[in-house]
Amino acid sequence: MSSTIRIGLFGVGVVGRGVIEQLQENEELITRRVGKKVEVVTAVVANPQKDRGIDLDGIMISDDPDTILQDESIDIVVELIGGLDEAEKIIISAMQAGKAVVTANKALLAVRSISIFEAAYKQNNPIGFECSVGAGIPIIRTLREGFAGDQVYEISGIMNGTANYILSRMTEEGSSFDAALAGAQELGYAEVDPTFDIEGIDTGHKLTILMNIAFNGLFSFDEMYVEGITAVTAADVEYAHELGYRIKLLGISKKSADGVEGHVHPALVPNDSMLASVGGAYNAIALSSDYAGTSLSYGQGAGSHPSASAVVADIIEACRYQLSGQQTPIPPLSAVEGRLQPANMMPMDEIMTRYYLRFNVRDQVGVLAQISKALGDEGISIYSMIQHGETEEPVAVIIVTHKTQEAAVQNALSYIDTLEFIMAKTQLIRIYGG
Ligand code: HSE
Repeated sequence: MSSTIRIGLFGVGVVGRGVIEQLQENEELITRRVGKKVEVVTAVVANPQKDRGIDLDGIMISDDPDTILQDESIDIVVELIGGLDEAEKIIISAMQAGKAVVTANKALLAVRSISIFEAAYKQNNPIGFECSVGAGIPIIRTLREGFAGDQVYEISGIMNGTANYILSRMTEEGSSFDAALAGAQELGYAEVDPTFDIEGIDTGHKLTILMNIAFNGLFSFDEMYVEGITAVTAADVEYAHELGYRIKLLGISKKSADGVEGHVHPALVPNDSMLASVGGAYNAIALSSDYAGTSLSYGQGAGSHPSASAVVADIIEACRYQLSGQQTPIPPLSAVEGRLQPANMMPMDEIMTRYYLRFNVRDQVGVLAQISKALGDEGISIYSMIQHGETEEPVAVIIVTHKTQEAAVQNALSYIDTLEFIMAKTQLIRIYGG
């Protein structure tokens, strides 16, 4: 056995740099906690010549994956390149070679869960993926180990820092979505291509991973209803405020006798709730279960150091198993092999919630009567209404409904939006909690 634990690292970007820094800066304490020095010996990157801005002395840099995969002396493979095909190949090859794997790749774990977890269960080697959800918030361990004996019935939260930063700015400054996005990009929160962040896809990947652990099934991200924040306007933020809410991008999953729902979309969150107070680029995930009740995990869901913290914790766990001579006794998705089955999400049409509807109407006789009749015909009960007596068309009419089924609201809106007094598509934002 080698005198150190040897790591092969794929990708030295923002997170990879953080991992190298943390292993170097905290070397002494990590050695004390593991019992041996843990070092990155090889890094595979697309462009070995590029200056990474950190000390890479003693690390072999290559662009050939086999430099790591064929090196029998490497104990742990850390995959931080992102993307699907290449990352999947690396992870599966590493597991087949008997190496422990650590990855931050939420898209891969959500979209190809069957291929990755089947291989992980078969090899029974540690696969760590704490960084894939909530970065600096240890939510995977919380759910898998802290709630190991609980029946979870809800996971809901803010799982994307970029989207939360944008919505927080819109709330605090009254700015438009575009101005807030530009601000996020200037500060380096949003990627150059922020599509996954603002379209809810990143949140959907993370929610799928958490659902797989909480509900012991392999859910498919493709079945998840995912809607981003690009259509949220400064006016919606203002009306939400008037009604006592903040708008947040939420991932919501609930288990009931009717099935398991999983959906991502902007939501009105009551001002006095814990999730409403989560501002800026922070993440927070609320869990509810039968014995523990409700808890909230809050912290930095992105960034070099919070992400590195999660990756390094997984590395240390893999080291501990290796040095104890055990294979991991903790099933990666909580359920033991053979007890994890493909599972379906409840169709979005069947979920029940309350709705904020903003109608953009001409100022003419009978409009309200026709809207309320169309809602009533679908069995939708109105809870409250706002109209400010604007004179400039379109005039905004805001209706908040009682709890109702998604299908009923969609049916009502597809009819209402054909009426001649409707000047622009009706805005629908779901209401969370209550
Ligand atoms: N892009 C993600 C976010 C961070 O903005 O939260 C990585 O998951």
